[in-house]
Amino acid sequence: MRVKEFAIDFSRDGLELDELDPDPVKQFSRWYDEAAADGIATPNAMSLATASRDGVPTIRTVLLKLYDEQGFVFFTNYGSTKAKQIEENPNAALLFPWISQGRQVKITGAVERVSTAESLSYFLSRPRGSQIGAWASNQSSMISSRSVLEKGFSQMMEKFKNREVPLPDFWGGYRVKPRVFEYWQGRSNRLHDRFQYHPNETGGWTIHRVSP
Ligand SMILES: Cc1cc2nc3c(=O)[nH]c(=O)nc-3n(C[C@H](O)[C@H](O)[C@H](O)COP(=O)(O)O)c2cc1C
Repeated sequence: MRVKEFAIDFSRDGLELDELDPDPVKQFSRWYDEAAADGIATPNAMSLATASRDGVPTIRTVLLKLYDEQGFVFFTNYGSTKAKQIEENPNAALLFPWISQGRQVKITGAVERVSTAESLSYFLSRPRGSQIGAWASNQSSMISSRSVLEKGFSQMMEKFKNREVPLPDFWGGYRVKPRVFEYWQGRSNRLHDRFQYHPNETGGWTIHRVSP
């Protein structure tokens, strides 16, 4: 079935090479702050693409929890499909689809686990219900009904009653260490602005305009 056309607002100013920050992480901060200020719901929701050893891709939404020059971090279950793929093939792509701004940011890179200390620090900042939920879900495994989940949750509530919920050894963060960043700004007549940052020999980044 053919779907209805939806207008996307491409009236925002275009992007020029000399307006981009030479540091792609600083450029990300600039756009991220604008996405949040423009009222984009959950601007930290990103699509995460991974692939198995033989190259079969899968994709899902995860939440960006921290980022800096070291990389972009999300948290998940280390037994999930995404985690199994990352262990087999430690490469991933991230996509921030900030459509109402006519923008997207794409990041590709290598993936590694964050330290246990980093996972613990984040885990301890979570509400107790989320901590217990992490223990109760064997993410990506098949279950016969919702009651399996609810029963698991109750069991974990009981197990950790009156004490701090420990960090599960099957749960933690991954850091995507960017190799390429791409900033895409929609323009009229499909003549969109698109710039990629690639690492250069001097330890900095080279920026190229790419055809839309
Ligand atoms: C808005 C949104 C945010 C999500 N954030 C996370 C997250 O931060 N970590 C996570 O493991 N799953 C998150 N999920 C669930 C994943 O999309 C996915 O269903 C789950 O991680 C299992 O994926 P996998 O089977 O490919 O490993 C989120 C889903 C949505 C819709």
